[in-house]
Amino acid sequence: MKTEASLTYFELLIPEEAIRKRIQEIARTLEADYEGKEILLVMIMKGSLLLVADLIRALQIKVCIEFVSCSSYGESGTVRGRLRVNGLEQINAEGKHILVVDDIFDSGHTLLGVIDRLQKMQPESMKTLVLLSKRVPRNVPYQPDYVLFDIEDRFVVGYGLDYKEHFRGLPGVYALLLENLPTQN
Ligand code: IMP
Ligand code: MG
Repeated sequence: MKTEASLTYFELLIPEEAIRKRIQEIARTLEADYEGKEILLVMIMKGSLLLVADLIRALQIKVCIEFVSCSSYGESGTVRGRLRVNGLEQINAEGKHILVVDDIFDSGHTLLGVIDRLQKMQPESMKTLVLLSKRVPRNVPYQPDYVLFDIEDRFVVGYGLDYKEHFRGLPGVYALLLENLPTQN
């Protein structure tokens, strides 16, 4: 998407330099918070892919990785579909220090659905980390433990986040100007 025209689809919100710097900061915080412990990082695919790749290279403590993917069935109009979490059967969370990582905290249903299911496996501890948290009113009484950036309520892509599976590889986070996108069939 490095074409002249793409400039009108995206508005840069968070440059890659800022992400890199913030990952170093959060890595130091995690090292202090998990001193002497081993993290079982559960990544929510696919949006957390780039964040996890960069975070584990910045961390100087022991980290093992597992992953889940989420889908909502029966999603139509304003009715939210039931969250399905795939891959839980591969995870042994009992007695572990779980850190669930997702790309964005929007309504909160995805992250809460995942931690709810993992909690049943009796981990030693459970925390959450997200790249972005949208400033939106929520009816869930929960905040992720670690938030790299708070953003306004706009649809964003890049650094793992997609629009219909596109734009995950953009190095920064961009607001997508949906109204400017060419219509697709
Ligand atoms: P929630 O369940 O409403 O918190 O939504 C979380 C999931 O929705 C994320 O894991 C993303 O996959 C997706 N999502 C929410 N907002 C955006 C956005 O602005 N851009 C891309 N994906 C988003
Ligand atoms: Mg997505």
